[in-house]
Formats: sequence, structure tokens, C-alpha cells
Amino acid sequence: MKHHTTKHHAVRSAVAAGCLALLPLPAAAGGAAPTDNGEDAGQVAFNTHCRSCHSVKPEDNRLGPTLHGIFGASAGQVKGFANYSGGLTPEIKWDEATLDKFLTDPKALASNTTMTPFGGIKDADQRKLIIDYLKTQGAS
Ligand code: HEC
Repeated sequence: MKHHTTKHHAVRSAVAAGCLALLPLPAAAGGAAPTDNGEDAGQVAFNTHCRSCHSVKPEDNRLGPTLHGIFGASAGQVKGFANYSGGLTPEIKWDEATLDKFLTDPKALASNTTMTPFGGIKDADQRKLIIDYLKTQGAS
């Protein structure tokens, strides 16, 4: 009898927790998003996914080429970067569509790319945050 009561209580608690978890959603979706926050979120996303290999400072090539001014540029043209795969050719222009494709799955755009072990970002919102952030980093 006691056992039964305990089990029942646990189930009810789990259901209650599930409901509580849903509650904040409308507030978050409706909240205004000042551009400052957007830029911060973009920088955080960049730092999380990209900064281990990329800088956004001019001429600061690391494991990957600097991404300063990369938005709007032709692919594979960063001066002084010696580790290009050869798969990023200047016919590719870095705009929203090409960057989104590359960041989803680098090999889909350049099959022999050396941008590994970066495996791509599945979350479209994260990709957009990063692309918008790159636009603010020296793009002409
Ligand atoms: C593990 C290291 C690594 C990570 C992590 C990484 N990259 Fe790269 N990235 C590279 C390398 C190496 C290249 C050169 C690829 C090639 O030549 O095929 C590159 C190339 C690029 C290019 C093309 C540059 C050009 O000159 O055309 C862009 C754009 C880019 N990366 C963006 C990103 C973004 C944005 C992120 C984070 C979401 C990221 N990368 C994460 C290593 C990395």
C-alpha cells in the first residue's frame, strides 16, 4: 500500500515538472530582442563553435584563416593562410546562402575541405547568429 502511494506521487511530480517547464516559453518568445543581445549571442556562438580555429582580427590566421571581412569575400583568398584544401575556390562568394551551407556541412560545399574535425552546426538559429556576427566583423 505504501509502495503504491509513493509511486503515484512520483508520477504526479513528473507531470507537474513537465508543465512548469512549458510555462516560460511564451514569455521568452514574446520578449523583445535588442540588437545588443543579438550581437552578444552571435559572439557567444562564434566563440563556442569557431574561435578554437578562427580569429576575426585582420591578418590573424590560426588553424583556419582569419574571418575578418569574410562576409562578401571570395572563398580561399585570405592572404598568408597556407593550409587551404584547394576546395574553396573564388567562384564561391561568402554570402548568407553559401555560409549557411558550409556551416551546416562543410563537406557539402567543399568535399575535401580541411575544416575538420568541425562537424557542422545542425541548429539553423545558431548558424544565423554566427553569420550575422561575421557580417559585423570587417565585412565591406
Ligand atoms: C577545427 C578547426 C576549425 C573550426 C572549429 C572551424 N573552422 Fe572554419 N576553417 C578551418 C580551416 C582549416 C579552413 C580552411 C578550409 C579549406 O581550405 O577547405 C576553414 C575555412 C573557413 C571559411 C572559409 C574561409 C575562406 O578564406 O574562404 C569560413 C567562412 C569558415 N571557415 C568559417 C567558420 C565558422 C563560422 C566556424 C564556426 C561555426 C568555423 N569556421 C569553425 C578550420 C576550422
